[in-house]
Amino acid sequence: MATLSEIASLRTSLADEAVAHLHRLVAAWSLLADLSFSDMFLVAPDGHHDYVVLAQVRPNNRATMLVDDLVGTTQTSSRWPLIASAFESKKVVKGETHLEGVDEEVPNWIIPVGFNGEMIAALVRVQGPLRGPASAYETVYLDIFDRFCQMVGDATFPYRESDVAGPGFPRVGDGIILIDERGLVEFSTPNATNALHRLGLYKTTEGRSLKEMGLHVRELERAKEYAMPRREDVARGDVAIDFLCAPLLAHGAVTGVMVIVRDVSELKRLDRQITSKDAAIREVHHRVKNNLQTVSSLLKLQARRSEESVVRTALLEAERRIRSIAVVHEVLSREPGDVVEFSEIIPSLVTMVEESEFGPHEVEIFVDGDLGSLPTDIATPLAIVLAEIMMNAAEHAFLDFTSTDVGVITVTLRTLKNQYVAEVRDNGRGLDANFSLEVPHSLGLSIVRDLVRNQLRGTIVMQSAPEGEGTGTSVVIRVPQTS
Ligand SMILES: Nc1ncnc2c1ncn2[C@@H]1O[C@H](COP(=O)(O)OP(=O)(O)OP(=O)(O)O)[C@@H](O)[C@H]1O
Ligand SMILES: [Mg+2]
Repeated sequence: MATLSEIASLRTSLADEAVAHLHRLVAAWSLLADLSFSDMFLVAPDGHHDYVVLAQVRPNNRATMLVDDLVGTTQTSSRWPLIASAFESKKVVKGETHLEGVDEEVPNWIIPVGFNGEMIAALVRVQGPLRGPASAYETVYLDIFDRFCQMVGDATFPYRESDVAGPGFPRVGDGIILIDERGLVEFSTPNATNALHRLGLYKTTEGRSLKEMGLHVRELERAKEYAMPRREDVARGDVAIDFLCAPLLAHGAVTGVMVIVRDVSELKRLDRQITSKDAAIREVHHRVKNNLQTVSSLLKLQARRSEESVVRTALLEAERRIRSIAVVHEVLSREPGDVVEFSEIIPSLVTMVEESEFGPHEVEIFVDGDLGSLPTDIATPLAIVLAEIMMNAAEHAFLDFTSTDVGVITVTLRTLKNQYVAEVRDNGRGLDANFSLEVPHSLGLSIVRDLVRNQLRGTIVMQSAPEGEGTGTSVVIRVPQTS
């Protein structure tokens, strides 16, 4: 279906600024449809004495009168003399018409849309039948609608800067307080009165200012002063009320303010809940990290007490594994959300490996590249895997090194073709000739294999440096980014 801009440029001679003005009118006009309990559509002359429909809106508070989509249809002036007289008089014209696309004659108002002193289009209100005599609040709505019609003609509505309707904006049905020229409450709909009660204002409201009643809405005064819509949230205890203050103008002067009132307490409460849930998750990570450190200290203590060297080594290994998990949790407890910067995890792992002593020689670790921010369900297992592999290099690669040698481990991190690629290389003795990753001999590589293949859905290749490319071992891990 064609858009307002497309129809305007193909079938009317409206200038770009005029079309922009109509766009803003359409962005805000559900307010008018609700105030008048009516369907509305927008027409502009098509240059052949007929009129093309640019847009259409239905009321939220009444059944629609226009079941069909009229956008893009031509309304012929011969069948609709009212429209010609509206464009001639530049005044609101009311009558009954047989519209193109509608089966029966419908009562309609033709409201001139002004812009730069000209009538560029017409807003057509197709009136639904009122159910019996209008109630007090319906009368007030219709009265405010009349004032907006005047403003549409004067081009003071839509407002120049901010909109008053659209997603996230309160609706007429939420409640209206009508403020007069002097700033006194002229009328308040039942929903608006309820909202004021929730703020602790119980006295009858009419004839007094909100301020006198003990409610200071600063933006209400600004709306009057600047003739622009303003918005403010007023909160008392658990209650929060949103006040949208839309000035009503006649011939450029503010003659009153329509305040749309909406109770947003529930929304605010949900907001607060979400924020506190975020904090709770971080607190849980923090506690997990502390608990892991306690476990790690306990294991270290047990290891020191143990007489048997095999037991001691096993306990120290377990202690180190717990510590590498704690490193990841340290980062998770700081980062809100479900992604972590991998570059923040790596340094602690490197320090942990460098500090472990496996012989008389030094071990140096260099990290090259970065993987950026990773989802935690990738970052956590990947960090544990890299810790195991770096630790293996430090532990097994440099067995024949003396105190004058330096074991070098290089970690290269890259993102390639939707894969995270991590390579760990050392300059040590290489893998034993009969080494196989598939033979489950020891715990370390079993953990690595399981995490890479089952949890990360990735691959692992371990091999000694090929002839002529120095010594040592290379371990390459590839993990798909979507796992
Ligand atoms: N970078 C390396 N250089 C030489 N040999 C290695 C290297 N990495 C692993 N290996 C060999 O692979 C074996 C298996 O490693 P794995 O991590 O599974 O066990 P581990 O390190 O001996 O014990 P742990 O369960 O404490 O990790 C090692 O014992 C070692 O012989
Ligand atoms: Mg190991």
